[in-house]
Amino acid sequence: MTQEYEPEATRRETGEAESSRASRGWWDRNADEYQNEHGGFLGDDRFVWGPEGLDEAEAALLGPAESLKGRDVLEIGAGAAQCSRWLAARGARPVALDLSHRQLQHALRIGVDFPLVEADACALPFADGSFDLACSAYGAVPFVADPVRLMREVRRVLRPGGRWVFSVTHPIRWAFPDEPGPEGLSVAASYFDRTPYVEQDKTGRAVYVEHHRTVGDRVRDVVAAGFRLVDLVEPEWPAWNQQEWGGWSPLRGHLIPGTAIFVCERD
Ligand SMILES: C[S@@+](CC[C@H](N)C(=O)[O-])C[C@H]1O[C@@H](n2cnc3c(N)ncnc32)[C@H](O)[C@@H]1O
Repeated sequence: MTQEYEPEATRRETGEAESSRASRGWWDRNADEYQNEHGGFLGDDRFVWGPEGLDEAEAALLGPAESLKGRDVLEIGAGAAQCSRWLAARGARPVALDLSHRQLQHALRIGVDFPLVEADACALPFADGSFDLACSAYGAVPFVADPVRLMREVRRVLRPGGRWVFSVTHPIRWAFPDEPGPEGLSVAASYFDRTPYVEQDKTGRAVYVEHHRTVGDRVRDVVAAGFRLVDLVEPEWPAWNQQEWGGWSPLRGHLIPGTAIFVCERD
């Protein structure tokens, strides 16, 4: 399904319900294109944290690979569940959750031997203390209006001592045009302006939403939800990666960070 009109890009306030509805629609409409464009880079069963290509096999942010065996892991905003497939191959017991039906159909197309759950990350359909670990590679967190609510849900479904690791667009990118070339290297907007980025249709209805948080906001969000922040990883652009991904490119990646990965633990 493709859109017949060009949505208008703007900055305006938008709440939880509108953000959730816009995300579901956008990812359902664009899942085929997303998987077609990025599926090769992601790999069917790799765990890639972002466009820099840092993967969990190298980073071990959820813990050493050998410690994953038998662990219950929730992947949030899983898309086609590539990360969950990597976790399952290490002996973990993943559950892959996403808001988009079409993204989960791609998970089925590639193949899964673990549960897929269609739900909003802000209302997790699991009992308290169901998981040892939770993770998200660019899933859900940048798209929700109330990230503290999402984080509280994650904390609720984690067991004591559980770890929550998520990657998002590095907040500094908000100040730059989302362009891979030199035009993406000059500050064009205030880093401190939290007004959401919204694409809307002719009637003013949001069809795509992204919410901005500064680095400090993200730290306060995880702390407000009851987590301890144990690391903040800013992957550098590696020499082997020559591939552009939207506004992420080798040119910009060598100069400014593109991804922030928050490693959090609950007591
Ligand atoms: C950029 S994709 C990342 C997918 C996958 N982690 C990857 O690396 O390819 C973002 C995903 O988050 C999902 N998502 C967005 N908002 C969500 C929400 N509120 N709850 C659950 N999933 C959501 C989208 O449907 C989409 O599949």
